[in-house]
Amino acid sequence: MSQLSVPHLLGIKNLTESDIQLVFETADQFKEVLGRPIKKVPSLRDVTIANIFFENSTRTKLSFELAEKRLSADVINFSAGQSSVKKGETLVDTVNNILAMKVDMVVMRHHHAGAAMFLSKHVKASIVNAGDGAHEHPTQALLDAYSIRERLGDVAGKRVLIVGDILHSRVALSNIFALQKLGATVTVCGPQSLIPRYIEELGVEVAIDFDQALKKADVVNMLRVQNERMEYSYFPSTREYVMQYGLTSERLGRLDHTPLIMHPGPINRGVELSSEIADSSDAIILDQVENGVAVRMAVLYLLASAM
Ligand code: NCD
Repeated sequence: MSQLSVPHLLGIKNLTESDIQLVFETADQFKEVLGRPIKKVPSLRDVTIANIFFENSTRTKLSFELAEKRLSADVINFSAGQSSVKKGETLVDTVNNILAMKVDMVVMRHHHAGAAMFLSKHVKASIVNAGDGAHEHPTQALLDAYSIRERLGDVAGKRVLIVGDILHSRVALSNIFALQKLGATVTVCGPQSLIPRYIEELGVEVAIDFDQALKKADVVNMLRVQNERMEYSYFPSTREYVMQYGLTSERLGRLDHTPLIMHPGPINRGVELSSEIADSSDAIILDQVENGVAVRMAVLYLLASAM
């Protein structure tokens, strides 16, 4: 099989395990390309891609843009802050205007859950979800699982602990789907107020005690508290949060093994991770960023070849 089972990448939920493996195998090839002196291939030479971002982004936006340029696509960028969205234009009108300029694919980040799905039903282009509200962030989960596979050989059978603001995190949900499809066991951990009430129905374990949960983890993925998605406070103070859920060398020193440490970025140093841990060789945060380009090249290439 050399094609994805879907015409858009809206979420991990509707991918099969073979889709994910195909992305990984394709990403392996692009990673090899990215290690060459000339890092560019002509694969998407006649394809035009619009990156439309209604929410702030550093890594994801740059990573998609670089992936597109390494594939020789033509790229246009749009940020809602400087656009006619502020003048009252609807999402479909904005995107159809962009498509009238003969755009083939749209990479979109939006603050509303379901925005990418909505768009895929209303416009003629292949849509890639670069994060929709607190719902899904599929390419992040693919690059996270790819980075685990790279370091630990396989994702199947690994015990992955996802820690922090599970409630508001699209990274958590997409990771849960991806890791489970690949055969890993997932535990989520954080203050009770930041764990969605029905999360166990997804087949994950819930842990409130971080130290206990760490003992069983092969991988620990530390998430940022998404203050921008909160209307009120979900825990008494940052100091208390750090005491219970911050990853520090003191906490890791109490374990008889060292798990692989991951973070999607942006890091709040001194909150979910101490600076010492963030910069340690057990943390693969910058490898995740590096792999993001190859994984996004794979996704764009596979979607474009099915158009
Ligand atoms: C994440 C996001 O935007 O959901 N970041 C990212 O894409 N690398 C996580 C976050 O903002 O905390």
